[in-house]
Amino acid sequence: MSTLSSLPTAPTWTKHHLIDAASLTVDEIQQVMAEAQTFSEILQRPVNKVPILRGKVIVNLFYENSTRTRTSFELAGQSLSADTINFGVSTSSVKKGETLIDTAETLLAMGIDAVVIRHASSGACHQLAQYFGDRVCVVNAGDGYHEHPTQALLDLFSLLQKMDSVAGKKITIVGDILHSRVARSNIHVLSKLGAEVHVVGPSTLLPVDIGKLGCIVHTQIEPALEDADVVMCLRLQLERQQSGLIPSTAEYTQLFGVNRYRLETYAKPGVVLMHPGPMNRGIEITSDIADDPRYSVITHQVANGVSVRMAVLHLVLGIHNLKGDAFNETVG
Ligand code: CP
Repeated sequence: MSTLSSLPTAPTWTKHHLIDAASLTVDEIQQVMAEAQTFSEILQRPVNKVPILRGKVIVNLFYENSTRTRTSFELAGQSLSADTINFGVSTSSVKKGETLIDTAETLLAMGIDAVVIRHASSGACHQLAQYFGDRVCVVNAGDGYHEHPTQALLDLFSLLQKMDSVAGKKITIVGDILHSRVARSNIHVLSKLGAEVHVVGPSTLLPVDIGKLGCIVHTQIEPALEDADVVMCLRLQLERQQSGLIPSTAEYTQLFGVNRYRLETYAKPGVVLMHPGPMNRGIEITSDIADDPRYSVITHQVANGVSVRMAVLHLVLGIHNLKGDAFNETVG
């Protein structure tokens, strides 16, 4: 894992928005990892709030439900001393028909610095970033089936706590790839860093062109798990299955559920088991392995969300002086 001392003296980060993982360079990914490592060390201190983003206003604009992402962005902003506002879409003028851009214009008029957005429409984040330009930073917290870049970055950070590098590792993503923004962002991040990414699921839950992203595609679980270093289970998105893409959840579990037998029979000893959450226990993953610390890093993924999102907020808001006094100063 990179440390503060190994950070580049001239940081390469230039992005004002984080829309996707597809456009991140290897240098940028490594910079997020290095900063996240610094922030995770800061979070271990007894007084763990730093004044780096004091005076900045960050709005969490979540049009879809979230537990992990919204809470960790809020904690991340607060730990950096920013003012964070959770915009409740269900109690806002969105319910009276206000458009995304009208909402954005309203927030801009109030003098905000960054928006963290989750939206059911792929591309909503890009639209917002185009509207704001360099006036407000935009961070994608998950848009439709498109991308969830901070999830992939925290997944990478969690893996780098278990292994020196992901290069050459077989990383198998299991499940509902079709509806998964997490899968897309992870394929981009992990393959850029040299991992061999495999995806597996029923053919109806595999996008036809997913292999073009550089992953190896399977429709049977055994070869996909064979000698895997990492198994990443995805949530079966029950709310997006209206069109009968799978015959039944019971059949899905029988064919693609990750359980102790499959993990211990096919994957490498010491395989790392991941899930972005929320889990459908007993459907895509059994509880006994999800809660088994010999394999599972699921709670670490959640915890690492805070430091990785601190790094992202810090980078997009453009305050690159990582060795500055603000890092050593704490807020009581
Ligand atoms: N992994 C994830 O995005 O979880 P939430 O939907 O709870 O934010």
